[in-house]
Formats: sequence, C-alpha cells, structure tokens
Amino acid sequence: MDWGMKNRISRIIKKDGHTVMLAVDHGYFMGPTTGLEKLDEMVKPLLPYADVLMPTRGGLRNYIPPETDIPICLRVSGGTSILNETNLLHEGIIVSMEDAIRLNVSAVAFSILVGQPFERDTLLAFTQVIDEANRYGIPVLAVTAVGKGLGKDARYLSLASRMAAELGASIVKTYFCKDFEKIVETCPVPIVIAGGKKIPEKDALQMTYDALQAGAIGVDMGRNVFQSSNPVSMIKAVNAIIHKKYTPKEAYDLFKSNK
Ligand code: 5RP
Repeated sequence: MDWGMKNRISRIIKKDGHTVMLAVDHGYFMGPTTGLEKLDEMVKPLLPYADVLMPTRGGLRNYIPPETDIPICLRVSGGTSILNETNLLHEGIIVSMEDAIRLNVSAVAFSILVGQPFERDTLLAFTQVIDEANRYGIPVLAVTAVGKGLGKDARYLSLASRMAAELGASIVKTYFCKDFEKIVETCPVPIVIAGGKKIPEKDALQMTYDALQAGAIGVDMGRNVFQSSNPVSMIKAVNAIIHKKYTPKEAYDLFKSNK
C-alpha cells in the first residue's frame, strides 16, 4: 500500500482503530431528507464529534465551508431516485475521480446491489471506481445497499460484504443484523455499520455497541443522528461508545443528560 493510501486511511480510521462517520449524502436519491433541509446548519454543531463526513459533491460544495477540518468520504454512486422503485439503487458513477481529487477527498463511497437483475452494472462500475481511485491512493468504501425483497441477514450481507472486499474495497459499510460477527469474520477489510431508518435513540446506541462488540470498527450513521430529537447529544453518545468504551446505558444516560 502506498503512502497516500495509508495516509488517507489513517485520516478515516483513528489511532484506536475506530471511526465515527457522519453520513449526510441522502439527498442524492432522497432530495431534501428530513433533518437535512438546511444541511449546513445541521452539520456544523455535529462536526466536533465526527471523524469523517460523508456528503455528495453538491452537498459539499454548497453547504460545507472549504476551511472545515474534517476528512471527506465522497458519495460517487447514484443515478436513480426514491421514486423509481423498480430501479432503486441501480447506481452508476456520478463523480469523476478528477473532481474527487479536486475536492481533496480522503475516500470515495460507492453502493453495490448484489442480488438484483442489475447487480452486474453496479459491480462493474464499482470496480472501475476502485481502479481509478486506487491509482491516486484513494480508498473506496463499498456500501452494501439492500434492495426490495432482499433481507438484512448475515447470509446475504456476508455475501455482499465479502464480494465488495474481494473486488477491492478498502472499507465496507453494511447493516447490523443477528450473527453480525459472521459477516466480520469472513470479510478481510474493516466494516462500519449504517444506521438505517430512524429508531429510538436507546436502540440505536445499543446497536452501535453490539456492532462494535461483534467486530465493526465504527459507524457511518446518518438518520439516527440527524433525525434524533437532539442530534448533538446523539452523536456525542455514539462517539462515547466508539472511542470511550461507554456501555449502552452510560451512552444513553449521556444522551439524556445533554438534552
Ligand atoms: C444509502 C446510504 C445512505 O445514503 C446513507 O449514507 C445511509 O445512512 P443511514 O442509513 O445511517 O441514514 O448509504 O445506501
């Protein structure tokens, strides 16, 4: 691995081997997602507790000041909207590597959809992005997207996660599920979990803790932070589990006390 790649990965995965990634890329297929209508106002107070920010190209340019000192994991896949149910997550490349470099990103993120008729399209575009990104020492985070009718279970997610790693991903983002350790055990690259749809804060903190116990290195969490009744308290609590070894109870107490 060359110096640039190692340097970028060290910006994403902190010295303790863990990371708190804040996902705010939802607009690329969901438009003005609840909580992100004014993305700049939402994100600014959360940044001190996040290690990495995951926006879209337009989100970064329009809402995040260039002086902001946080590594960027740029969303580079897309092409369909939430209204296009039959093709949902049939994603292709939406940002050139030249522009990603111009934006000074530390990583790029690409969603693959294993198990749909169009899986081949997403996998081939994904490997093209890996070749281009790795040429410049940029790591690729694979998002193992889950389409309609595909279960969030260890059998399916370990298939998608291992495939992503075998195809060249440096980091995998997948969903937490029962027997999550089986996904970690069979995936040779670090795993972060997505938050998924908003659930009660107590449950989201428990999920974060359980994922870490099962071997995940952290989270790439969006809605469970910015749709919380108190997003700053929530990201503080998530950060405390990931970097300060808080138990779910301690973290939930911290969340409540900050409220
Ligand atoms: C879609 C994505 C999302 O855009 C986002 O990053 C997910 O974050 P969360 O589920 O925590 O809101 O990855 O596949």
